[in-house]
Amino acid sequence: MLLQTLALPALRRLDPEKAHHLALRALQLGLGGAARPGEDDGLAVSAMGMRFSNPIGIAAGFDKDCRVPVPLARAGFGFVEAGTVTPLPQEGNERPRLFRLPEEGAVINRMGFNNEGLERFSQRLRGLRAGSGIPVPFGANVGINKNSDDPPRDYAALVQELAPLADYLVVNVSSPNTPGLRALQQVEPLRAVLTAVAGAVSERPPLLVKLAPDLADEALEAIVEAVVEGGADGLIVSNTLLARPPHLRGRHAGESGGLSGAPLRARSTAMLARVASLSAGRLALIGCGGISCGADILDKIRAGADLVQVYTRYSIEGPAMLPRLKRELRAALRASGFRDLAEARGTALAARRSA
Ligand SMILES: Cc1cc2nc3c(=O)[nH]c(=O)nc-3n(C[C@H](O)[C@H](O)[C@H](O)COP(=O)(O)O)c2cc1C
Repeated sequence: MLLQTLALPALRRLDPEKAHHLALRALQLGLGGAARPGEDDGLAVSAMGMRFSNPIGIAAGFDKDCRVPVPLARAGFGFVEAGTVTPLPQEGNERPRLFRLPEEGAVINRMGFNNEGLERFSQRLRGLRAGSGIPVPFGANVGINKNSDDPPRDYAALVQELAPLADYLVVNVSSPNTPGLRALQQVEPLRAVLTAVAGAVSERPPLLVKLAPDLADEALEAIVEAVVEGGADGLIVSNTLLARPPHLRGRHAGESGGLSGAPLRARSTAMLARVASLSAGRLALIGCGGISCGADILDKIRAGADLVQVYTRYSIEGPAMLPRLKRELRAALRASGFRDLAEARGTALAARRSA
């Protein structure tokens, strides 16, 4: 709690990227908080053939180099996703490249897949697996280097290396800061990536594709079918938003990059609901984008999510966020008359269909 009361206000005044490094360091030092016994009561879910003690995961990009999955699990996340990792180390874009929009509870980033590369990532992960392990399901999120000349080959190599080490894998084709990356969401390129991945491994954990919230509604049906036909197991909806909602406030509102946090919420939840309805139970769904309270989580579960992820709000609020979200989620479930998360899942769609 010391971190919460003293360090967080100071972190908020720091350059956001420096603050992020300090937050990672604090987690490594064991200052990231610890879930209390009973904190997850009533929040267990099953998805992708695994059990999760609560449905709230840390989204990709927070722990790009797989440094803190264990402290994040101890802090109370129900699952942890690390990455995006690329085949080779990469500096990312020039700084500054991360901007706070405090008035909006939002962030704009154009980091550009800064990371230490696959070798270091998988070394760390191997070390953790050989030691006392990661106490929650662990996802590895993969992407391509800026100068990749063969994306299907690179995704296949990443999946081949990480398949034995991760509990699920994410093919990230939706970050706005790698030129050409989001074009891989079009049906043909997406098919090529999924075919290459399928050819690279005979056994792998569940594989998800992460989508951008800028995709047009009309494009979603073909994408969902390509994902199902390509043998993937699920979708993450969504990554950050390139479009800017009108009247976005804050002195950094005009910066280029992906927008995350509260202004993304309605759009990504609406897209999740569309994808849930199109996939009709054939895909596992992780809802991500703008979650800041328990009711936001219940909205995503009711729109069809099996699980949810948070990044921006956690970077603003720190370790106290998790017990709060869990308390609020339990209260929201009770208030809506649901026994548990499984009962709530997809009910917004059913209600819409019968209306
Ligand atoms: C600084 C920053 C870096 C991110 N890096 C990645 C990344 O490397 N890979 C990825 O798939 N998503 C990345 N994301 C997107 C998040 O995983 C998430 O999809 C998005 O922020 C929406 O969730 P939120 O509103 O809870 O933050 C990043 C987001 C932020 C704010």
